[in-house]
Amino acid sequence: MCGIVGYIGDRKIDEVLLEGLRRLEYRGYDSCGLALNGGNNGIYRKRALGRIDNLASNLSKEKLFSAQSGIAHTRWATHGEPSEDNSHPHCDCSCELVVVHNGIIENYSVLKEELEKKGHKFSSQTDTEVIAHLIEEKIKEISRGFAVKHALPEPLFFEAFRRAVNLLTGSFAVSALWIKAPGLVISARMHSPLVVGCADNENFLASDVSAFLKYTKKVYFVDDGEIVALKKNSVDFYDFKGKKKNKEISVINWDLSMAEKGGYRHFMLKEIHEQPLSAQNTLAGRLLPFEENRILEEIELDKKFLLEMKEIQIIACGTAFHAGLSAKYVFEKLGIKTSADLASEFENRAALLDKKTLVIAVSQSGETADTLHAVKAAKKNGNKVLAVTNTLGSSLTREADHTFYTHCGPEIGVASTKAFLGQLTAFYMLAVNFAYVKNLINFEKAQEFCKELLSLPDLIEKALSLENKIEKLTEAFSQKEHYLFIGRDVNYPIALEGALKIKEISYVHAEGYAAGEMKHGPIAIIENGMPVLALALSSQYLDLIKGNMEEAKARGAEIIAVVDEESKKTVKAKHYLEVPKINELFSGALASIPLQLFAYYIALQRKCDIDKPRNLAKSVTVR
Ligand code: AGP
Repeated sequence: MCGIVGYIGDRKIDEVLLEGLRRLEYRGYDSCGLALNGGNNGIYRKRALGRIDNLASNLSKEKLFSAQSGIAHTRWATHGEPSEDNSHPHCDCSCELVVVHNGIIENYSVLKEELEKKGHKFSSQTDTEVIAHLIEEKIKEISRGFAVKHALPEPLFFEAFRRAVNLLTGSFAVSALWIKAPGLVISARMHSPLVVGCADNENFLASDVSAFLKYTKKVYFVDDGEIVALKKNSVDFYDFKGKKKNKEISVINWDLSMAEKGGYRHFMLKEIHEQPLSAQNTLAGRLLPFEENRILEEIELDKKFLLEMKEIQIIACGTAFHAGLSAKYVFEKLGIKTSADLASEFENRAALLDKKTLVIAVSQSGETADTLHAVKAAKKNGNKVLAVTNTLGSSLTREADHTFYTHCGPEIGVASTKAFLGQLTAFYMLAVNFAYVKNLINFEKAQEFCKELLSLPDLIEKALSLENKIEKLTEAFSQKEHYLFIGRDVNYPIALEGALKIKEISYVHAEGYAAGEMKHGPIAIIENGMPVLALALSSQYLDLIKGNMEEAKARGAEIIAVVDEESKKTVKAKHYLEVPKINELFSGALASIPLQLFAYYIALQRKCDIDKPRNLAKSVTVR
């Protein structure tokens, strides 16, 4: 939710910032802006409503002075409508100090009232602007002579910034520039992501590494409660009391090509096609030869805990929740009692968890506020938390006791595809491993499952060959305004996911249902020609779902059936989308491929902005 970028060094600062913003645009895209600090030349600030291109074209019309540092922002509105006035950077009364911010300042109205009483004039409806005025106020306060040692601009700016962030409550990754200290960019983090990139004679900061991956892979992950002072030749970390901290540098193994479109029309399509490779990366080195301790050692989970574990509780949001819900069926089919809850609805259940319940929090970004909040509630209750995430160093990995990475590479498209598949695959591995450790399956069975899992990348590749057929098929459906997706058991959550995909990128009405529930109400909405996508793969429930499809057909539905070679023999539908056959436990991974393609091509026919759907952002860091 919102992306911030900062740079200090000798490159053309506006270019570095614009490029960083383009890479972070997936985080929010209703307005954007940047500020350059030219010291004696002044602060230059430019903002634009809408996409980065608008900002770039405004900038191209102006002559920019040379600057030493800069910050920039792409916004997903929380406080104040999307408008130029509400875009970041925001400034103090004299526009000599500018800030960009990702998160929500919960106490902004109290602070604003106090600052207004002191004469500060606000020019936006945002919570962020209060930070700029607060730092300005602290500069005045210190300069009035409380602390003479802070008279030099840089220490003065640092101290004012430090005092200001101590007064903020809520979530923030905030960066600031002050005209009198052009060689310094100061930032702080509390519950919103912030990462620093280091190179020779230049340093970067951003909400995520893709913004500066082109220049450096050496990074520092900023932690909650840290302030970072970025200069051209140094990066220093402090706690909120101003005490210096030592931090370890990490090296990112993603490369830039992974974060680019590589010839595809949209990131979403590229990411759909990356799935054979990303599934291979998720599986790599974790299954062969099958060893009981391999995954436990990786996630550093004690075997004794697992043996005593009575239940699993999964928490997640959106697509990640659908992966978790499908996993619930998989764990339970293997004999491990499991619940799955939406993270945003979980808080009060946390206190009821048995201490021997393992909580698994799933999140592509590892930054979703609802998920992080739910994790905190579970930890408060004394539960162990295992994170399943794609993002190295994310907040979730730091909150959780254990982490299992999905290793899918960067996912840029707002509609999650390869990350979903990575989450399912990760769950399949955990389920087989846990079931074996708990003596619920024997070694032969575990090996058989592992063999099936290792065939997933090839089977996904085969499922992707449906693309042309689906593209053609969607021509006939693109004008429909209502869609139903039905499935049972492991594939009921896949139906939910199919409906979510089409809703979020095509803006049409779609519902996912447990097929057996249709007759309890939803069947009433079926009318002539309504597309019903039915997940009719070989499973213990195939006969039942065939019955549900007949019921829908009898009421005029046009059935598109996702089948495998075997189920196709008996399933009756108008259109078939055949995916390879796999053990029914893992069939959700393959069933989801045609649904992703179907959603993509419907959105394409409807000329929707597929990678940046309206009203959405990739990473939702507000509750
Ligand atoms: C999926 O297409 C959505 N963009 C959304 O539902 C997403 O899965 C959800 O916001 C959770 O994100 P996370 O995995 O980063 O926590």
